[in-house]
Amino acid sequence: MEKQIVLLPGDGIGSEVIQSAKQVLDAITERFNHTFTYHTHDIGGVAIDQHGTPLPQDTVRACEQADAVLLGAVGGPKWDQNPSHLRPEKGLLGIRKSLGLFANLRPIKGFPQLLHSSPLKHEVVDGSDLLIVRELTGGLYFGKPSERSHDGNSVVDTLAYERSEIERIVDNAFKSAQLRRKHLTSVDKANVLESSKLWREVVEEKKADYPDVTVEHQLVDAAAMKLITAPTDFDVIVTENMFGDILSDEASVLTGSLGMLPSASLRDDGVGLYEPVHGSAPDIAGKGVANPLAMILSTAMMLRHSFHLEKEANIVEEAVQQVLQDGYHTGDLDVKNGQLVGTKEMTRRVLEHVTSQDATNSIMTC
Ligand code: NAD
Ligand code: IPM
Ligand code: MN
Repeated sequence: MEKQIVLLPGDGIGSEVIQSAKQVLDAITERFNHTFTYHTHDIGGVAIDQHGTPLPQDTVRACEQADAVLLGAVGGPKWDQNPSHLRPEKGLLGIRKSLGLFANLRPIKGFPQLLHSSPLKHEVVDGSDLLIVRELTGGLYFGKPSERSHDGNSVVDTLAYERSEIERIVDNAFKSAQLRRKHLTSVDKANVLESSKLWREVVEEKKADYPDVTVEHQLVDAAAMKLITAPTDFDVIVTENMFGDILSDEASVLTGSLGMLPSASLRDDGVGLYEPVHGSAPDIAGKGVANPLAMILSTAMMLRHSFHLEKEANIVEEAVQQVLQDGYHTGDLDVKNGQLVGTKEMTRRVLEHVTSQDATNSIMTC
């Protein structure tokens, strides 16, 4: 199989973990005789420094022509005081929007080997395996107006949705639930927000199309609590852009670290951008200690969703499971009696398994 892949390393640990992803893909191409061609482009802070904009046209064009995009992370203290159009995060929001990637799948899987890495009681975390389907191109992040008054004393952000935008993400979530344990929790704030009332209405209408899926509505405040007190009650969660952003970082606690969560940002035709849920981690950037597993698991999602290479995706996921089983972990994971390694060594250990082992099962189920 021949594919064109755009790499967007971005800032901070983004460039460190994207190297790990590329090495894993190289091992896959070698083993299965695929040909992946890589095109590296700037986004975020590095793009501001190099081109005066967080999202150069050249980067957008390359992504539009690619079969898939892998993104590291954007942002950092260097650009925190910039005006909003010159912030690295604008580049990330811009590429999601211009590619129309409305569905962000964030699987959260508690690997058995990391049960004790979570600060939560292991009997609470044990068996947690859920998928957050986050709406990614609407809601509070993109509504207009979003501005500050001339005198600086008034601000407005807008949470806006068209019915069609809610319908397509809800459909996507129902379909994901059908492939899993067939339970959908729609998370909203329908006791206060107009947008949530329409959201709930759409979910109620859609449920007739998916009779095999059970549906539940939860208010976001209660959902935030239940996510860490009864995580195994959840299968698929569908929610608005910002709720999904917050709940997914919270849910990472179930896995032991934010450095474990991959994601796929998709549209209906399978074109996708694959990115870890974490950010550029300025506190550890450049030190060679970042956990590359979120990025590596994101490449498995790319193999599955954009290229339909299920076996290859499973091999990558099983390799990750295996290194954890072998006791290797980066510093973000609290593992007793394990072996602490850096980004490169962790990647090397994953590669060993990718080149040698067979796999049949999907670990991440999404
Ligand atoms: P962050 O996710 O970068 O880091 C939060 C904490 O988790 C830090 O202590 C960090 O060291 C740790 N962490 C994150 N990923 C890790 C990994 N792979 N291995 C080990 N530890 C890891 O969030 P933040 O500090 O709030 O944000 C830093 C910058 O990243 C900001 O500029 C923010 O806007 C940006 N950001 C970007 C993305 C993205 O590009 N997708 C996502 C979130 C935040
Ligand atoms: C994420 C990040 C981004 C978001 C930021 C950096 C714009 O937090 O991908 O989760 O909020 O979507
Ligand atoms: Mn986030």
